[in-house]
Amino acid sequence: MKWKRILKRSALVVVVLLFVWFQVAYWSSTNDCQRSVAPGRERMKAIKFCEYGPPDVLKLEEVEKPVPKDDELLIRVRAASLNFIDAGLVRGPSVLRLMSGLRKPKFTGFGRDFAGVVEVVGKDVIEFKPGDEVFGVRWGALAEYVCVRKDRVALKPANITFEQAGAVGLAGLTALQGLRTGRIHAGQKVLINGASGGVGLASVELGKLMGARVIAAASSDEKLEVCKQHGADDVINYTNEDLRERVKTLTGGNGVDVIVDPLGGNYSEPALRSIAWNGRFLVIGFAAGDIPRIPLNLTLLKGCSIVGVFWGSFTEHEPRHNQENLQELLTWLTEGKLKPHISATYPLERAADALNDVLNRKVMGKVVLLTEE
Ligand SMILES: NC(=O)c1ccc[n+]([C@@H]2O[C@H](COP(=O)([O-])OP(=O)(O)OC[C@H]3O[C@@H](n4cnc5c(N)ncnc54)[C@H](OP(=O)(O)O)[C@@H]3O)[C@@H](O)[C@H]2O)c1
Repeated sequence: MKWKRILKRSALVVVVLLFVWFQVAYWSSTNDCQRSVAPGRERMKAIKFCEYGPPDVLKLEEVEKPVPKDDELLIRVRAASLNFIDAGLVRGPSVLRLMSGLRKPKFTGFGRDFAGVVEVVGKDVIEFKPGDEVFGVRWGALAEYVCVRKDRVALKPANITFEQAGAVGLAGLTALQGLRTGRIHAGQKVLINGASGGVGLASVELGKLMGARVIAAASSDEKLEVCKQHGADDVINYTNEDLRERVKTLTGGNGVDVIVDPLGGNYSEPALRSIAWNGRFLVIGFAAGDIPRIPLNLTLLKGCSIVGVFWGSFTEHEPRHNQENLQELLTWLTEGKLKPHISATYPLERAADALNDVLNRKVMGKVVLLTEE
């Protein structure tokens, strides 16, 4: 009896403490939006989001121009692109807010992939010099300037434009690391389910480079045409074709060795039933609405293994790894084997329109923001 009472009281104390902690954390959550540029400091324009909300919370603001540290480069951004995750960050869904700021976003810069020209190098940087054209991944890339650590950039090949280079970073790295995690190799049959987006199209091209036979699934014939242009051997419109039957026909009844799912498949039964015995299901992303269906549908994966690409493995948290992978992407870009697809370009101040394209599933490949006309 006594123990029961102690347990009950302890639970109550924990709940009250959690409630107080949450209130304090919520109301003290703030950001740098009220801070003005210090007198005498140089200014630049950057896209900021000071509140969570719809795309029009993105505003072009005057902020302080960053100054590079000893191991950093100051880069004049020419092009930057959006990723699916950016749409989620702006809305600030509850789980994400535990990291990104409960009431207001902690970090108010926006976008990650960029390409531009080195303006200044820190004193420890010998690998790059002012005037070099580079591309890479950095939070807050939708700005006139970014400071980036030297191990997070690579030289831009002369044969690709700034727009294309600015569309490579995160989606290319994610696709590369994803396909490696899926152990894709020559002779395999691979279904890219949701193949027309940034990660999807990069996966189509990289899958071909790894020697696989690539089947691309997407929601419209226009999107599938783009997948074909980027090397897909076969295409399936999953809105009006029976995905499972088509895969059966294309694989002689055996199914595919790997399904790469950047989102579009939504763990649907026909997709999961298309995997061959002992195949692999590679999860790269999913929509929140699918979560309740995942446990049920995953029981369909008889004899298959599930592999995933997780946050830490493809973000800038692993810069050394990213540098090696950026170099690998660079080789393919230089050889013209990897050709980023750009479905629209906007001037920097129209970041909200670009984000609406992502949310409305209009993007094929990437949507790019330009800092200069
Ligand atoms: N971009 C990155 O660097 C990155 C990094 C890590 C993880 N991811 C994850 O990978 C997934 C794809 O990212 P992405 O940047 O390639 O996205 P994206 O360019 O916006 O493409 C996503 C594609 O998925 C399909 N889709 C199916 N259901 C959708 C829905 N409810 N909402 C939006 N699109 C839907 C759409 O093609 P159809 O209309 O043809 O179906 C769309 O083109 C996301 O889950 C993301 O979180 C991306």
